[in-house]
Amino acid sequence: MGILYRLFTHYLYAAAKTAPVDKNPSRPHCPRHSTCDMAAARTMACLSVASLARPFSSRVSSASCRAAAVAGGQRASLMGASQPRWYLATSSSTALQRRRSNRGFLTVDAKKKGFAELLSDIVPKDEDYNGRPRLEKGKVSAKQHVPNSIAKPPYADSGHLPPMNEEPQIHDAEGEEKMRAAGLLAAQVLDYAEQIIKPGITTDFIDQKVHKMIVDAGAYPSPLNYGGFPKSVCTSLNECICHGIPDTTELREGDIINVDVTVFLNGYHGDTSRTIRVGEVTDEVARLVDVTERSLAEAIKICKPGTPVRKIGATIHAIADEAGFGVVEKFVGHGVGKEFHSGPTVRHHRNNDPGVLVKGQTFTIEPMLTIGRTHDKMWRDGWTAVTADGKWTAQCEHTLLITDDGVEILTASPLKKTERFPAKQATAA
Ligand code: MF3
Ligand code: CO
Ligand code: CO
Repeated sequence: MGILYRLFTHYLYAAAKTAPVDKNPSRPHCPRHSTCDMAAARTMACLSVASLARPFSSRVSSASCRAAAVAGGQRASLMGASQPRWYLATSSSTALQRRRSNRGFLTVDAKKKGFAELLSDIVPKDEDYNGRPRLEKGKVSAKQHVPNSIAKPPYADSGHLPPMNEEPQIHDAEGEEKMRAAGLLAAQVLDYAEQIIKPGITTDFIDQKVHKMIVDAGAYPSPLNYGGFPKSVCTSLNECICHGIPDTTELREGDIINVDVTVFLNGYHGDTSRTIRVGEVTDEVARLVDVTERSLAEAIKICKPGTPVRKIGATIHAIADEAGFGVVEKFVGHGVGKEFHSGPTVRHHRNNDPGVLVKGQTFTIEPMLTIGRTHDKMWRDGWTAVTADGKWTAQCEHTLLITDDGVEILTASPLKKTERFPAKQATAA
């Protein structure tokens, strides 16, 4: 059923080709359409699957399609072809559960695959990137202990995913203070993780250290047993997009690793991540990390009451396009607060989602940019998402609070002297 549907949508796109071939060889075409007018394709697809269609931003053009192709085969332009379908990203979820479930979790099946992508699933491409073999799963150590004195979130014992609440999480003054405390602790833990990172340590070692610091601070490490996640922090190396599980894998000089820390303190979650360089990295990799950070920083600057949520994706995507990087669509930012994940869905690529930011709301922005294509492969552990082409990817994340007239970065690093209140950018809604 899935494959048939995918082929069907591919033929819809193919039938909608209208634009002339771009003869400029320095500008790669959309990898799936030698002649490509995504807007026409989108219209066709939307008409054909009207009940599923989400109209896409009118700014998408064949020019931006080419830009997207430069950015590593982005599929943003085709978003209109299908309603994003939320699904659970855990190993315990069956396809049927996924289809039935209304509970969103972190990922959005943004678009059906085309023929080339189906082929790329079948034909393995195992070239190394940066002279590194592909990541392999190591051994995962036993679950860490959390003292009984520490207040746990509802899923901690069961390992269930809490029901996904689509409503934003909005706080009063006391809630805001608790969010500040959770955000600060998460930032301090992430700073600490950065300090211990060096070649030769394992991702499991990072997990042990981070776990201890969180528990010593009287907090619960939010990832632990969230939907069955087996560890206290996510460690995503090189081509791992996100949700890497700490294991016996050793860090090597030249690697990059995203450490994603979430703490549950006094009933509130603070969620933050950054991509840390292990020793010296290549210029291309350094640029990937820098651009990812800049895309987050610029997206944060536009946040204030009334900012359309979709502008976050527009801002990030424009920066990635300009730099020639891809924007991962499948994993998204989210509301955060008393619950780990809630509405709004904060997509990092161009989108046409409804909704505006409101005062008192807390949420994350957590863009993932790629050197190559954005298409992912999920490991059998049900969590680890790696790029299908093996090229490297970077992510960074902050928990944000919308203030009276702007935004406060609750997970600003005290060590890095990150601006807590970045200067607002004047933007027309
Ligand atoms: N911290 C991740 C986020 O940014 C979520 C990790 S969920 C886990 O939303 F279960 F993988 F830990
Ligand atoms: Co998050
Ligand atoms: Co996170």
